[in-house]
Amino acid sequence: LPPPTTSPLYNYFILYISPALAYIIATWGIDNLEEKLVKRGLFGLDIGKRGTKREKYKVPEALGVVTGISHVVVLSLTTYLCRTSTPPTLPVLLSSLTSILFMLFLGFTDDVLEWGWTAKLVLPTVSSIPLVAVYDGSTSVVAPRFLHSLFWTPPHQSLTSLSTFLANLGMTVYPGSRVGLIDVSWVYGVYMSLLSIFTSNCINIYAGINGLEVGQSVVISCCILLHNAHEISAGVSSTQQHWFSVMVLLPFLTGSLALLRKNWYPASCFVGDTYCYSAGVVFAVVGIHGHFSKTLLLFFIPQVLNFLLSLPQLLKVVPCPRHRLPRYNKSTGLMEPSEYALPGGGKGTNLTLINAWLKVGGPKGEERLTFELLVLQVAMSAVGMCIRYKGIGRGLIF
Ligand code: UD1
Ligand code: MG
Repeated sequence: LPPPTTSPLYNYFILYISPALAYIIATWGIDNLEEKLVKRGLFGLDIGKRGTKREKYKVPEALGVVTGISHVVVLSLTTYLCRTSTPPTLPVLLSSLTSILFMLFLGFTDDVLEWGWTAKLVLPTVSSIPLVAVYDGSTSVVAPRFLHSLFWTPPHQSLTSLSTFLANLGMTVYPGSRVGLIDVSWVYGVYMSLLSIFTSNCINIYAGINGLEVGQSVVISCCILLHNAHEISAGVSSTQQHWFSVMVLLPFLTGSLALLRKNWYPASCFVGDTYCYSAGVVFAVVGIHGHFSKTLLLFFIPQVLNFLLSLPQLLKVVPCPRHRLPRYNKSTGLMEPSEYALPGGGKGTNLTLINAWLKVGGPKGEERLTFELLVLQVAMSAVGMCIRYKGIGRGLIF
């Protein structure tokens, strides 16, 4: 890879010092905060251990606050080094810091106060405003194939009226475009906000077994870093933006690894909504400012599946209990799909990807379950990369 800038100190900091520092601060912070959190009442009981000796063990909650702080500390130091960089990285970095801090605050207050769904949707939207405000990339998208006949295939019957309609809404259809390009303008801003809401909440609802929240974030980070490395080595025009993503993700990844050490089965700390939301916004930040916000979603296939599967419960079409994580079977020592109760009697399986995986593959131990779901995350990301690089599936929609 070419070095990120011409300043050796800056490069050395981004690639080695900042990730190392984030790991050290996170490890030190976790070790020192665990007991304090329990004393202040911030702990959870490990539901997946009911019926075992660990049932009553108070697991410190919201340790994501430590990785979040370690990330913010390191990024703040980075802003100092960025102050004179060309092209200017400072506004982009400051807007990212604002969003990350806001989500860290939302997550921690959620762990303490248990926000309702309105707050979980409205606050990430607010946190995405600084990102959208300084976004300087393209707002053009390739239209799906079924729209091509409307705009780009002769005899262009509806071209004038529809194009004018879109132009009135502030969008531009490029008539000569062979791939079917539309500048969707402010709609792209709305998409970026929605992306932020999705990435923050999707990790939080794909959770409940030891190591899964951090594990999936570690896998997603590694996949994004691979994508960045690929694009940088290919010399794409947005190389600088990909370096920005590396700069933000490396310290996030090492901080998360420090947390995973304690959150892996049997967990001695929980990451809390603090971690889930701040991880989600970090991914939105790098996707948006790295100019690969559409590719980003290809690394979230299990989260998209889990979200779609969860919709009937999220929309309250069927009952949604407070916890949907799998049930520990005391007699077998294995995890089984959990159920919700219907008001008139009867039961249904909670609609999550974790439960679906257990239904298909049969009951299994918690550690094995997390491991398999992380392998699934890697496999699905490989599929995502095939779609992105090899064009597999091209022509189906685009
Ligand atoms: C989300 C999920 C919920 C799931 C919960 C578990 C939705 C709509 N909500 O709720 O179904 O049960 O996350 O994280 O899908 N816990 C464990 N083992 C773990 C991690 C968490 O037992 O490995 C339990 C602990 O009691 C912990 C609690 O889950 O205190 C944390 O739950 P919280 O993050 O507050 O739940 P939500 O995010 O609201
Ligand atoms: Mg949670």
